[in-house]
Amino acid sequence: MATDTATAAIDAYLAQHESKSLLRLITCGSVDDGKSTLLGRLLYDTRLLFDDQLAALEGDSQRHGTQNGELDFALLVDGLAAEREQGITIDVAYRFFGTDKRKFIVADCPGHEQYTRNMATGASTAELAVVLVDARKGLLTQTRRHSYICALLGIRHVLLAVNKMDLVDYDAEVFDAIEAGYRTLADQLGITQVTAIPVSALTGENVSARSQAMDWYRGPSLLEHLESVEIQRRDSALGFRMPVQWVCRPDQNFRGYAGLVAAGAIHPGDEVMVLPGGARSRIARIVTADGDLDEARCGQAVTLTLTDERDISRGDILAATASPPQVADQFAAHLLWMDAHALLPGRRYWLKIGTRTVSAQVTEIKHRVDVNTQEELAAKRLELNEVGMANLGLDHAIAFEAYADCRELGGFILIDRQSNATVAAGTLDFALRRADNIHWQHLDVNREARARIKGQQPACLWFTGLSGSGKSTVANLVEKRLHAMGYHTYLLDGDNVRHGLNRDLGFTEEDRVENIRRVAEVARLMVDAGLIVLVSFISPFRSERRMARELFEPGAFHEIFVDTPLAVCEQRDPKGLYAKARAGKLANFTGIGSPYEPPQTPELRLDGSATAPDVLAQQVMASLLETGPR
Ligand code: ADX
Repeated sequence: MATDTATAAIDAYLAQHESKSLLRLITCGSVDDGKSTLLGRLLYDTRLLFDDQLAALEGDSQRHGTQNGELDFALLVDGLAAEREQGITIDVAYRFFGTDKRKFIVADCPGHEQYTRNMATGASTAELAVVLVDARKGLLTQTRRHSYICALLGIRHVLLAVNKMDLVDYDAEVFDAIEAGYRTLADQLGITQVTAIPVSALTGENVSARSQAMDWYRGPSLLEHLESVEIQRRDSALGFRMPVQWVCRPDQNFRGYAGLVAAGAIHPGDEVMVLPGGARSRIARIVTADGDLDEARCGQAVTLTLTDERDISRGDILAATASPPQVADQFAAHLLWMDAHALLPGRRYWLKIGTRTVSAQVTEIKHRVDVNTQEELAAKRLELNEVGMANLGLDHAIAFEAYADCRELGGFILIDRQSNATVAAGTLDFALRRADNIHWQHLDVNREARARIKGQQPACLWFTGLSGSGKSTVANLVEKRLHAMGYHTYLLDGDNVRHGLNRDLGFTEEDRVENIRRVAEVARLMVDAGLIVLVSFISPFRSERRMARELFEPGAFHEIFVDTPLAVCEQRDPKGLYAKARAGKLANFTGIGSPYEPPQTPELRLDGSATAPDVLAQQVMASLLETGPR
């Protein structure tokens, strides 16, 4: 999830310190817990500050410091933070430092709740979290929230830094109480490794050097712990897996598959499977810029060639044949919602997992989690910064691993299809096997056969527009004409369908999404039955109209925008609903309390304000005879 700039910087740093082991960590804490001071202190103590930065720090500390002219480390880190906020947007600031024993990459994430998104980005690659707590305040809501997200994103090691011990007279009892409270929380969250250290970031006590004032504490300093903690890699048990990042074809004679090995190891001659398709082949060569290798391991970037020609593209996964990952298209997953616009079940999003992008929808929100108490609550939508468990349905099957076993093949993001914004981070928990038992039944009588007997080409005419725009009136006239000409038709009207099939749905955003999903599916069945289907629903959201369109073959879906300005609809007000909405007696009324997103490229736009309905109906007929049913 890191940006390209960050990735390049990380690569450069790694190359420099090749032989030392690497620990990736994230620092979390509330705003005033002293995170910046601690980080600044660590960078200073490990002598990784450049001289000019140090000189600037000394100057700044004199001028603006809060420490009576002593070095104020918070200024250093906050200064860098401010710099990066001016223009260069990196979600997370990555800091690098090293000691004789180890090198470190720290994801430094802001503490405010609105930065949960950044925190999730940092946590998704970290192996250890430094959770800072102010000794005077103890565990706060933010401590719980950050710890929950760390656990969700697979962090099993926490260093609990109980900071500002100098302000509680280095009192062991204060420390013990905080540690005990945190261990209870960690148990609930499944964080198995907790090391608590009493520190004062300001004085440096127990940061890199032991504190004289806390002789009751016998454990390691913070830096000693970071240098020596052993991290168990979780994916060591998995066989070879590599998502194909791109297919490399410089000329006719070479075809290689480039990617980062996500798990296991591979050698020339090993048999591999291409997933989700299932084709098999053997590794011919492992190609790198420095020559061919006899082995590639987890974490290495390589290009593989195979002994056979296989149809492989970006997003496929090459895996050991002996223990391949599962393939599925329905999942139980955890989601962290990161967009101001709520998650709506039934809406389609792009799901990006590894190098693959597929269309997906949340079929059901199982529950929302109160991250402060771990309580599971009922929910129909997920709002910004909320976490929930949900079922997902994908349009195509993917090969995957549970996130708990492999982050690369189990972690995903959801992308809004209209705005292209990343709206959620998620973890695949397990595949829903119920889909395995439902197969497509082959039917001998198909759409073509049904259409032929009716002598027509089936199609869906999708009328969209505000309430009172005239869409039902026009649709009714069009159906009458088609019927008179001997075509087999059906008109699905919003008001009518809401009396039956969609009786359980109201007018909240999520209910509208479901309303359109159902009617689009029904329209598809009717087109499959060989009919010309007219749909007259407000269908206010672009996203769902697009979803409806994608259910049909190209050319079979005609979006007809009945374009009547709100003022005109309101003046007509055939059902008195606009008046009610204006009087505050009808919530979520389209155009007033709920948005209407006009189509950008409909097949047909009708001017519903000035033209008579039968003229509009003629326009529809004319456009159909050009492109539609014959
Ligand atoms: S949609 O937005 O979900 O597509 P649909 O077409 O099914 O709406 O239903 C719209 C009809 O429901 C309107 O023609 C109107 O008669 C009625 N209605 C009742 N409440 C509302 C509301 N809050 N917003 C829009 N239409 C409403």
